[in-house]
Amino acid sequence: MTTPDPVAFIRANTILHEPPLIPEIRLHLASEIVPIWQMTEEELERTGLPPPFWAFAWAGGQALSRYILDHPDVVRGKRILDFGSGSGLIAIAAMKAGARSVLAADIDPFAATAIALNAKVNDVSVVVTDENLIGTANQGWDVVLIGDMCYERPLAESIEIWVRNMVAQGTTALIGDPGRTYLPKMGLDKLISYAVKTTRELEDTDVRNTSVWRIV
Ligand SMILES: C[S@@+](CC[C@H](N)C(=O)[O-])C[C@H]1O[C@@H](n2cnc3c(N)ncnc32)[C@H](O)[C@@H]1O
Repeated sequence: MTTPDPVAFIRANTILHEPPLIPEIRLHLASEIVPIWQMTEEELERTGLPPPFWAFAWAGGQALSRYILDHPDVVRGKRILDFGSGSGLIAIAAMKAGARSVLAADIDPFAATAIALNAKVNDVSVVVTDENLIGTANQGWDVVLIGDMCYERPLAESIEIWVRNMVAQGTTALIGDPGRTYLPKMGLDKLISYAVKTTRELEDTDVRNTSVWRIV
């Protein structure tokens, strides 16, 4: 099976709408969860593609985006990395809040395409990479933003080591997280919490209490 064209696939399997906590940003999001997830499992997986994380605005990403939009000083005039960008929601929120530049990083090439499409819809400019940046040197980022990345132990642990190293050099790092299993248990300052509306199909609950943390 050949890999589907990402732009055509995204346009055909999403609709433009606003995440519940972020009415000021529109994204290409899955209209129904089960069909797109099954399709990617059954069809795209055969071509080696990961599940369509980019088709959802995850609770952690919504909370972090809300925080940035309501506290623009955190990013205004700064160089930002949105790590594990998915749909690009946090990257777009950072640009709308006045960031100088944003690099949106996601190793899924479909996410890279979704981020570019979503940035265009929201009339902001975001640089996108599908390089795996874990362990690489800080490219001049003042602030690293991490939305909902603590769902797998090896991934969460390697991100923590890498980002704490940057924090030790003076970088600010914020995490948006709805209580995922591998959120670090120590060395975090809670900045704010939100009740984020979600769906039972995706999260097994209608609302997730989701916090924004600063790595200290
Ligand atoms: C649960 S989603 C969160 C997306 C977005 N931050 C949000 O909150 O809506 C996790 C994302 O991390 C990406 N990811 C996983 N490992 C990664 C890595 N090593 N580098 C960059 N992105 C990665 C996945 O492709 C996925 O899009």
